[in-house]
Amino acid sequence: MFATLLDRIHSRQASVGVIGLGYVGLPLAVEFAHAGFDVTGFDVDATKAAEINAGRSYIPDVCATDVAAVVEAGRLKATTDMSALAEMDAIDICVPTPLRKTRDPDLSYVVLAVEAVAATLKAGQLIILESTTYPGTTDEVVQPMLEAQGLRADVDFFLAFSPERVDLGNQRFTTKNIPKIVGGFGASSTEAAAALYEATVETVIRVSSTRVAEMVKLLENTFRAVNIGLVNELALMCHKMDINVWEVIDAAKTKPFGFMPFYPGPGLGGHCIPIDPIYLSWKARQSGFECRFIELAGQVNSSMPGYVVERVAEALNSVRKPINGSRVHIVGVAYKRDVNDLRESPALDVIELLGKRGAELSYSDPFVPEFCHGGHAMRSIDLAAALQSSPDCTVICTDHSVFDYATIAGSGAPVVDTRNALQQFDAPGIFRL
Ligand SMILES: NC(=O)c1ccc[n+]([C@@H]2O[C@H](COP(=O)([O-])OP(=O)(O)OC[C@H]3O[C@@H](n4cnc5c(N)ncnc54)[C@H](O)[C@@H]3O)[C@@H](O)[C@H]2O)c1
Repeated sequence: MFATLLDRIHSRQASVGVIGLGYVGLPLAVEFAHAGFDVTGFDVDATKAAEINAGRSYIPDVCATDVAAVVEAGRLKATTDMSALAEMDAIDICVPTPLRKTRDPDLSYVVLAVEAVAATLKAGQLIILESTTYPGTTDEVVQPMLEAQGLRADVDFFLAFSPERVDLGNQRFTTKNIPKIVGGFGASSTEAAAALYEATVETVIRVSSTRVAEMVKLLENTFRAVNIGLVNELALMCHKMDINVWEVIDAAKTKPFGFMPFYPGPGLGGHCIPIDPIYLSWKARQSGFECRFIELAGQVNSSMPGYVVERVAEALNSVRKPINGSRVHIVGVAYKRDVNDLRESPALDVIELLGKRGAELSYSDPFVPEFCHGGHAMRSIDLAAALQSSPDCTVICTDHSVFDYATIAGSGAPVVDTRNALQQFDAPGIFRL
């Protein structure tokens, strides 16, 4: 069975299913198709399936012509019909892993996807979980569900975890050239999953277990969350000491070894960094272990939107205005530069906090034409028009490359710059983080 699966992978006869066609699943599906596999994308969202079947991309990092080409060549199709999972040799699960309201891991999407896989599981299939999750998910949650009908992992079917490391908006590192970590439930599972990825991406790194592979991803993202927490605290400290934190970081990063720059900002955003460390600390707590670094970084990072609001109060105070009743224009709401992803964006917290203090809010973000948060709907307005209407204060939350920073800096109104986007400008009305 193992040899047959490997043969089918090596000869590109294997059919590959990708469950969840979002920011992770769609680029991966396109790469499998580029590698020569027949790929079927499975999603509960019929609109996404229809878009793909029409040869269109709804993910900015995935080129529409690439989708059109693989769809036209018959290498990629999409469906909401989970029964077609039975026809797949390999299945990659890329569904969301958010937090519950209680801030515990919400594995309900993974469980639903695995239920669909289990319903049609057949001997010889390779199942890979890619969704970021706590160590133990694959062998404590996924494996028992798949084995419930009697087939055994690493014997009758193959089971692996391979974390997705894609970085939205990153033109240099993509699904194709980011090294892929693979940890199987057993040796055969590792080899089968590694073979699939070796046919598809440039570099594959095998680790000894699914738990190690799960932990690798959480180490990477916890490393970022903790270092961002450190540098955010340094920003607060530097403000008190009247030192420009951005200049400090720029100088420190000239050290050719032993230092890696991280930058302060209005808070953590996106589907990964604010969430993944919480998956880890939740699981560690079950083993009686308190993750002190994660907790502390979480406290510092989640205080940043409130700190930004204090800086807005300071900026408005400099022109003798209160927050209450002032017109505050937010520049950029996506969680990072040049992406359209609003998930966990700290700009939403800044908007909410300013709104509670009576500010009249507007925003500009060409990547996010409109959004609804906390029951309030907002629509993006053109930045030039917004500045012409003379807001009392402007807050740069996201430093998209399309913004005209010279106009923002010269608008005459105080600007709170949370991203050092106005680095080249020196005016008394600029309030840097
Ligand atoms: N976005 C990133 O940059 C990134 C990077 C690395 C890892 N991850 C991880 O990858 C996973 C997926 O994240 P994403 O950003 O692609 O999410 P996403 O929300 O963009 O996409 C998930 C897709 O899964 C679909 N879906 C949900 N439940 C389903 C089900 N039961 N069956 C079929 N389809 C289903 C949704 O409709 C959606 O299209 C998460 O665990 C995330 O933490 C994300």
